[in-house]
Amino acid sequence: MTKSPSGQIDHVLTEDRLFPPPAEFTQKAVFSTTDQYQEMYKRAAENTDDFWREEALEHLHWFEPFSEVCKWNPPHAEWFVGGKTNASYNCLDRHIDAGRGDRAAIIWEGEPGDTRTLSYSELRREVCKCAEGLKQLGVGVGDVVSIYMPMTPELAIAMLACARIGAVHSVIFAGFSAESIVDRNNDAGAKLMITADGLYRRGKILPLKKTVDEALVKSPTVQHCLVLKRTGQDDVAMTEGRDVWWHDVVDTQAGEIAAEPMGSEASLFILYTSGSTGKPKGIRHTTAGYNLWAKRTFQWVFDHREDDVYWCTADCGWITGHTYIVYGPLSAGATCLMYEGAPNFPAEDRFWDLVEKYKVTILYTAPTAIRAFIKWGDEHVDKHDLSSLRLLGSVGEGINPEAWMWYHKKIGGERCPIVDTWWQTETGGIMMSPLPGITATKPGSCTTPLPGVVPAIVDETGNEVDDHHGGMLCIAKPWPGMLRGIWGDEDRYADQYWSMVPGKYLTGDNARRDKDGYYWIMGRIDDVINVSGHRLSTIEVESALVSHPAVCEAAVVGRPDEIKGQAIAAFVSIRDREPDEALRTELKMHVRKQIGALAQPDDLRFTASLPKTRSGKIMRRLLRDIASGNEIGGDTSTLEDYSVLAKIRDED
Ligand code: PRX
Repeated sequence: MTKSPSGQIDHVLTEDRLFPPPAEFTQKAVFSTTDQYQEMYKRAAENTDDFWREEALEHLHWFEPFSEVCKWNPPHAEWFVGGKTNASYNCLDRHIDAGRGDRAAIIWEGEPGDTRTLSYSELRREVCKCAEGLKQLGVGVGDVVSIYMPMTPELAIAMLACARIGAVHSVIFAGFSAESIVDRNNDAGAKLMITADGLYRRGKILPLKKTVDEALVKSPTVQHCLVLKRTGQDDVAMTEGRDVWWHDVVDTQAGEIAAEPMGSEASLFILYTSGSTGKPKGIRHTTAGYNLWAKRTFQWVFDHREDDVYWCTADCGWITGHTYIVYGPLSAGATCLMYEGAPNFPAEDRFWDLVEKYKVTILYTAPTAIRAFIKWGDEHVDKHDLSSLRLLGSVGEGINPEAWMWYHKKIGGERCPIVDTWWQTETGGIMMSPLPGITATKPGSCTTPLPGVVPAIVDETGNEVDDHHGGMLCIAKPWPGMLRGIWGDEDRYADQYWSMVPGKYLTGDNARRDKDGYYWIMGRIDDVINVSGHRLSTIEVESALVSHPAVCEAAVVGRPDEIKGQAIAAFVSIRDREPDEALRTELKMHVRKQIGALAQPDDLRFTASLPKTRSGKIMRRLLRDIASGNEIGGDTSTLEDYSVLAKIRDED
């Protein structure tokens, strides 16, 4: 291997397996020929305005037409300028007006096993009631509403109710602490908070309202708190004049309110995501461009058909839930399964039980879940009939090729294409992904960009790198779903995403493109390890470790080393074997064999589990601290539990 010039990353892991789409899938697919994709891609790139004008006119409802497709004043984009639409109208009324109101919109199952199905007409009625309740509580156009709720239909209802009256929702994942709620309420200037008495998690009740009460003491802008009775525990404190029950304020409404015509660029929501400085950033998305991107990417990537039962296992507290539980699938008129609880309650087969029971056809989940299923054992999968599935998706992190293979064989029965979707909170929706009817997939690659997405891989000077080397992944043109800013901090938006490579959006990820034009995400920019002048990506070393049968999960970080610059430290969780010196040596040799001596870990520690963010991403930053700290040494072959570290920090 040769020494790489600065800013480029050596690519060391080769993956040659190729999985063409099954012929019977292609026959009925939305994209059934490569030409169709190429023509569309070309048109979106070269004839951008015409392409998006047609898309927007066909796929959104317009109260007032737009006069300009895209106003690009870098780094600020406006899409569908002058037009008026409403996201809740596009998700609900459009289908009802078209005579499809009786179709199931949400099929919901609570963790204790309670169930509910809401047709599009029923969902609209509930959304309208909630919207009327919000208005009664003084919420109007442009007001921010914080939502801290369990995964019940009311969470989606609350989001859509905000959209209906032009309020801006800020969903806070219901696992966050009171302090995190305070930060978000104050940064956004939230006027109202919606929560529930509690939520079910692994059979226990978490008292959400108690956490909210703690937060509201330090949230001076919040005037009212609307509380859903979910668990029914009786020690819920209601502060007079501030707190009101959902069943008093929402359920009593008529449920008829019309959708407010909103400017295309009106803020639809804020979603906080962790930033490099630790202070969460309120990513701001707007109405028309986001809505269109959510809908079209959903239809393209998930190949949605009339008879599908689609299940995205994310929580609405994350962008995946916003775009692929609520706005994308509902705009497309899909039937969505929504599940409230843990994947291992009451047993490790809960997901497979749900797939079998509801005959799920499309399943969209995350690598962290897939790795947990592998660890729990195949017997939980084998108990169930998963033959309804026709398409599988993955999001959130790179999927290690061996985890991909397990997903393909064990869950997909070798017949379901896998769409490994790369995107970010900031991008609003999927940017790169296989199109399941036409893309031959390679385990670990998110393959090719969707129409409208123009990627560029650059080095530290902003020049494009050659195809063999990796570099920083940028997006060279604006797209409708892109973030419009960071709430209350426009300078940070320009600085963070647009200053390093002028005119291009900096994703913060590294990537490389292979000879077939497929993209491979190589992790966050700070996850690169520089060993003796070779820049290696953590995911490649991790994938080599995971390809050993004893390894469930691996995280790899760099630590300072006098001779090599950086040495490789690996944290590994194992199954079916005892951690000992022999296994440690075997694993180091395994990486050496898979990649080369250069990538052989210098330290290798066994751990019961890895520290993760609440959205399931491995916290390499914490592991870097441990790896470079003084407490290394002693007998590290015993199993340690680094997951406790995740608990001492709220976010990554
Ligand atoms: O590093 C990439 C990783 O997750 C980051 C975005 O995280 P977030 O904003 O929380 O959104 C997650 C859901 C879209 C990216 O910058 N990431 C996400 N999907 C993939 C991925 N890395 C590799 N492959 C993916 N499919």
